[in-house]
Amino acid sequence: MTTSYKHEPFTDFTVEENKQALLAAVKEVESTLGGHYPLIINGERIDTDKKISSYNPANKAELIGTTGKATQDHAEQAIEAASTAFESWRKVDPKERANILFRAAAIIRRRKHEFSAMLVKEAGKPWKEADADTAEGIDFLEYYARQMIELADGKPVHSREGEFNRYIYTPTGVTVVISPWNFAFAIMAGTTVAPIVTGNTVVLKPASTTPVVAAKFVEVLEEAGLPKGVVNFVPGSGSEVGDFLVDHPKTALITFTGSRDVGTRIYERAAIVQREQNHLKRVIVEMGGKDTVVVDNEADLELAAESIVISAFGFSGQKCSAGSRAVIHADVYDEVVEKVIEKTNALTMGNPAEADNHYMGPVIDQAAFDKITSYIETGKQEGRLVAGGDSDNATGFFIRPTVFADVDPTARIMQEEIFGPVLAISKAASYDEALEIANNTEYGLTGAVITKNRAKIEQAKQDFHVGNLYFNRNCTGAIVGYHPFGGFKMSGTDSKAGGPDYLVLHMQAKTVSEMY
Ligand code: NAD
Ligand code: ALA
Repeated sequence: MTTSYKHEPFTDFTVEENKQALLAAVKEVESTLGGHYPLIINGERIDTDKKISSYNPANKAELIGTTGKATQDHAEQAIEAASTAFESWRKVDPKERANILFRAAAIIRRRKHEFSAMLVKEAGKPWKEADADTAEGIDFLEYYARQMIELADGKPVHSREGEFNRYIYTPTGVTVVISPWNFAFAIMAGTTVAPIVTGNTVVLKPASTTPVVAAKFVEVLEEAGLPKGVVNFVPGSGSEVGDFLVDHPKTALITFTGSRDVGTRIYERAAIVQREQNHLKRVIVEMGGKDTVVVDNEADLELAAESIVISAFGFSGQKCSAGSRAVIHADVYDEVVEKVIEKTNALTMGNPAEADNHYMGPVIDQAAFDKITSYIETGKQEGRLVAGGDSDNATGFFIRPTVFADVDPTARIMQEEIFGPVLAISKAASYDEALEIANNTEYGLTGAVITKNRAKIEQAKQDFHVGNLYFNRNCTGAIVGYHPFGGFKMSGTDSKAGGPDYLVLHMQAKTVSEMY
């Protein structure tokens, strides 16, 4: 018997003991930096000629560690290993599979600060964000394990006289998991364990900027008793190994989280039926966002400004859920913009491994730094720079939280995912117009509305076209089991990770009818 699900509590770092525990974990992680993590195929550690080097984005000279770098030959071996392991894994009792997730959750909970410290160093996450990332990973393990136990006997169907009918869920097959760096632990772990617990086997290709924390997670799964070949760890180049894995005829399911461009490429490629392929591939692709906080004229303006700033600048805006645009009713526009400027200027920024718990750390790498600073230049043409705008990549990739006001709703910085600490603000003449602007991007992931008016809340529920809609709060920070997560339009397939419908996307429903 398991207890009922409750999300993992966040750590309060104002408590001295907790602060010291994380600092100690950072020191501990620092003492192990530079380690090497080979590929793992069928349980064997495999050496590769080339390696992926992972660096600390807050201190770009600091090597976090290296992993093996898979070639297409390795990818082929990984698919074969997963395909062989599938024949036995698919028959393992779902409760046994769930128990492996429960054990992995227990191991990670015991080593929680170590994983968070790893995210501080490898992803440049401020403590609060790192702690939330680790907690979310634990939540996925706990939630999906319970969900699988519930689904183990399928769902009820009717039987006529003389009939015994059952509706059960069976595994799909070899699953290619391609994960992003921004929730380097939670999304990587969640998208890996969902196929495992549903009886599939996995080839995991983590993001190349954060492969070390993924390697540590695979070690935890091994410790929790996962048989060899069920997860195969193959970091590698997206274009070389990623395409190969997606195209492979034995790939049955692809679960991808990342950018719109790569996601749509995978979606298209997966539709092509390869020679020797005798099934249609299933695809879960969760992609980018250009998410909006709408502020009505009947709103708590302090809450509005707070919600805008948290949504825009948490983890330096590097969340698919980030509120990178705000649309404010003309009646309250000037006042809210002033409050946003004040709150933005008060945000602290620095190396998150230091004792001070900075609100913002660096952006992930040089490519991100270049892209974001180039958008800041674009913003100077498209709007009025009212906060931030400066950057420094001498030691790490630091960009000040930046706000552009008076931006046209169709401007590039209001339309394109920047994925950094850049907020664009537009003015709306009415609440109806604000919702229209909120819907005017190709994305549809998250959104928030700040209003005290019940009728306007009901209107937004119908007309604001996003997968995760929040009222009178920020638009980031979905919690597993509480706010199932996934987007509409070009934000993806709306798989709703951490929700009641997620696991069935990894299985095939089978109707079994016996006569007696
Ligand atoms: P990305 O698309 O650059 O990379 C994601 C993964 O795809 C990486 O593992 C990468 O190596 C791999 N990849 C790259 N080219 C590939 C190819 N041709 N074939 C197969 N795999 C390939 O994204 P990123 O920079 O790691 O992550 C940021 C993006 O992810 C943002 O757009 C963000 O909005 C999105 N994201 C979405 C969600 C969501 O749930 N909707 C969650 C987190 C991040
Ligand atoms: N769970 C993450 C958020 O909602 C993606 O911000």
